[in-house]
Amino acid sequence: MTTPTTTHFDTAARDWDQRPMSQQLVVVPERLLAQLPLQANDHVLDFGAGTGLLSTAIAPKVAQVTALDMSAAMLQVLDEKGLANITTHHGDIFDGLPGYYHAVVSCMALHHVADTAALLRAFAAALHHGGRIALVDLYQEDGSFHGDNAAKGVQHLGFVPDHLQALAEQAGFVDIAFSDILHVQQSNGRTYPLFLMTGRKP
Ligand SMILES: C[S@@+](CC[C@H](N)C(=O)[O-])C[C@H]1O[C@@H](n2cnc3c(N)ncnc32)[C@H](O)[C@@H]1O
Repeated sequence: MTTPTTTHFDTAARDWDQRPMSQQLVVVPERLLAQLPLQANDHVLDFGAGTGLLSTAIAPKVAQVTALDMSAAMLQVLDEKGLANITTHHGDIFDGLPGYYHAVVSCMALHHVADTAALLRAFAAALHHGGRIALVDLYQEDGSFHGDNAAKGVQHLGFVPDHLQALAEQAGFVDIAFSDILHVQQSNGRTYPLFLMTGRKP
């Protein structure tokens, strides 16, 4: 499986956590967890887990985290962190998932998937009833966040909340809410807001 997305992330993996952007994103897990009810026996899916920004923060609070990513190199960095209850799963979400989950979380991965409606349906299909989504990504931007969008496998220049909410509702989610989670500064000197979208499968 080699795509612009996997090539970009395989190349970037070893230094991923040292990037200025990753260092700004370290506050995301605590802010996301403040809005995501989790139980000690839960099993959580981290979609586009990368090197485990979310997975490593969530793992101490739940029974099991499955960290899904198409980039083997990103998951290798996560595996080296040695958390016993994180299972890395190398693959594309559309090739199927190894289980069912109480929550699906994600940070900065949605904009790499062309078919957002299908992605939200895959999340819904993978959740137990009562399961939650907590998804972080960019609000709609002008393409300057990544700059070289094609080379980085960018499929969406951020998202408009009303549109994303409609897709989530069509996928069967309820109680959908948006909040501003963080503003990040990019190397171009510009600042970009990120949202957290939460929702529940009835
Ligand atoms: C911008 S990185 C974010 C990594 C991590 N969540 C973080 O915030 O540091 C996006 C990740 O999503 C993964 N990804 C993109 N599309 C995917 C797909 N269809 N299935 C699985 N992983 C995917 C990429 O390989 C990449 O590691």
